[in-house]
Amino acid sequence: MARHIAFESASFHTPGHKGRLGDNSSAIPTETWRQDLTELPGLDELSSPTGVLADLESRAACLWQASETMLSLNGASAGLVAAMFTLAARGSTVLVPRNAHRSVIHGLILSGLFPVWYESVWDDDWGIWGPVLATSAERVLTRCGGELAGVVVVSPTYAGAISDIAAIAHLCKFHGVPLIVDEAHGAHLLPNSVMPCSALSAGADIVVHSLHKTLTALTQTGLVHLGKNSSIEPHALRAALNLLQTSSPSYILLSSIEQTLNTLEGHKGQAAVEQLLCYSTDLIDTLKTFPELVVYQPRDQIDPAHILVKLRQAEPQVFYDFLTSQGVFPEATLGKGTLLMLGLGTTMSDLNTLQSALATLRSHLNQLLDESVVSARLHAGWRPPEVIQILSPRQAVMMPQEVLPAHRAVSRVAAELIAPCPPGIPLIVPGQRVPEEILKFASVQKLKVVIE
Ligand SMILES: Cc1ncc(COP(=O)(O)O)c(C=O)c1O
Repeated sequence: MARHIAFESASFHTPGHKGRLGDNSSAIPTETWRQDLTELPGLDELSSPTGVLADLESRAACLWQASETMLSLNGASAGLVAAMFTLAARGSTVLVPRNAHRSVIHGLILSGLFPVWYESVWDDDWGIWGPVLATSAERVLTRCGGELAGVVVVSPTYAGAISDIAAIAHLCKFHGVPLIVDEAHGAHLLPNSVMPCSALSAGADIVVHSLHKTLTALTQTGLVHLGKNSSIEPHALRAALNLLQTSSPSYILLSSIEQTLNTLEGHKGQAAVEQLLCYSTDLIDTLKTFPELVVYQPRDQIDPAHILVKLRQAEPQVFYDFLTSQGVFPEATLGKGTLLMLGLGTTMSDLNTLQSALATLRSHLNQLLDESVVSARLHAGWRPPEVIQILSPRQAVMMPQEVLPAHRAVSRVAAELIAPCPPGIPLIVPGQRVPEEILKFASVQKLKVVIE
């Protein structure tokens, strides 16, 4: 990019801004406009890379110990949809966890695969899905292993729970079913580091990463990796990914991937993740000094970049709103907790600011708790109802439909996906029978349903 910018004296190609600011009121720095290049000579082609982008892919494959890696400029989302597409050539059903991200459902809609739903551990104290137990995976695999095109696992979960991927990968290999791990929240789990074991090291067939959630690349970047002994054909995965990517990739995003690789390669990466672990340990220790706060610590492994915390006897929104009022912005409220996310960009100063906010919380605590109205949901131990899948998500979105007020949609077959972000976990999936609880758990006014 630098060579091209230095050499080019006149542009008669896209983009139309020609590397110049449209006018002086732009919020984007001048340099960014100059760097907004396209697939020019020497800059390779994202859909079939052979030059600088192929180099980036092989550097990433080497770093995460994959057999092959592909770049995504549509986040982990495109990687997960591409994975579903690739599986569709192997069969018609796929094992999908209840906490799958909505991009997996998009993949089902586009590929035509039928989901067989399975549950990870439901944590009632926190109102969230936890890790997948190998014993539950074994049960479903024994029941329907032979027919499955693949198995999807989310690890780490949005709250940071890590599943025993090595045990699940072993079971999948035994049943001859490819394992796809949505590790969007775990790209920092570098092999041979202080971090918990990554899904690639544990033997998954396809692993999908976001590069912007905990690492340092710009938002929208991701990677799709094939494991060392993956049964997935790389060409098929690349073809599927190409269906989902722009033909005008942003070189600003691509160069942020390069920058991230520069940060992670060699000892620097190990040192960066060690630092992240130290910050996380410090922060958890600080949080534990507040008797009013509880930190999520599932019985299996937990990812240090995700810290879910709750204020006893208060709605998660109370803690969230308090922190934002102090200029400290958490990631989200999640179940009964508030999610704090660390990344390689986290600094000591961020931790100090949070600590000062917590000190202020102490003096406001009684007032906050008095004002907090604890909702029935928090008390009642609500958990999402079972999904009864009548049609495949694709059939449901293709059939004749009508839009109904939510209360009249109960017991009908849904024709749309409801999965508010964050966390993007589906509340209603196209093709499922709409449960009565929808009126309680989803703030949906209207719903598209199939005309049967
Ligand atoms: C579990 C999970 N998987 C996948 C994604 C999609 O990642 P991206 O934003 O990189 O497309 C998200 C995003 O929030 C997620 O939480």
